[in-house]
Amino acid sequence: MIVRRELPDDQAAVRAVIAQAFTRDGEDPIEARLLDELRADVGWLPRFSLVAVSAGDSRGEVVGHVVCTRGYVGDAPALGLGPIGVRPDRQGQGIGQALMNAVLGAADALDEPLVALLGSPAFYGRFGFRPSTEFEITPPEPDWADYFQVRPLTAYVPTSGVFRYATPFEGL
Ligand SMILES: CC(C)(COP(=O)(O)OP(=O)(O)OC[C@H]1O[C@@H](n2cnc3c(N)ncnc32)[C@H](O)[C@@H]1OP(=O)(O)O)[C@@H](O)C(=O)NCCC(=O)NCCS
Repeated sequence: MIVRRELPDDQAAVRAVIAQAFTRDGEDPIEARLLDELRADVGWLPRFSLVAVSAGDSRGEVVGHVVCTRGYVGDAPALGLGPIGVRPDRQGQGIGQALMNAVLGAADALDEPLVALLGSPAFYGRFGFRPSTEFEITPPEPDWADYFQVRPLTAYVPTSGVFRYATPFEGL
């Protein structure tokens, strides 16, 4: 399994993986529609759209995907992570962890200061995420509490304020 940047030919497979990862009753999940809307948004950052592919070559089958899009803490640029998903038959095999480490490494290398996400502290704490309030960063929705987490990177400079995702997240 390798992690690489998404290529134009991967888009349909990526959408299918995210839909399969999040569907509860066979319906098209909101996360797949969010991905569609993010792609069309000014906040879409192709360099942070990564796929995990199952074969040993770069054209292998897509089994996981992660993306970060442009967000802000107050007026300061930051990254919002999500959706992240792994095909159900390949979950629990370290693919989500590989995607997280790859996208955090890319963000750090490209001098992004901070990555934010909404999710389980039990899963994301292992990647250095902490509740945003520890950094005086207010979640977009105050009742998200400790589920809204941030991971400061090397270029991080303390900046307090409300986190704002790319616009399509607001419709969730
Ligand atoms: C969450 C997800 C991306 C993780 O990817 P993965 O390849 O299954 O995870 P890995 O194999 O790298 O890591 C497995 C570890 O993560 C934990 N984990 C996986 N999903 C979790 C979740 N939703 N909440 C808490 N812990 C979770 C597992 O318990 C396991 O922990 P352990 O190593 O202590 O046993 C994947 O399971 C998935 O697509 N889930 C459905 C969609 C989803 O919930 N996306 C995230 C929304 S925030």
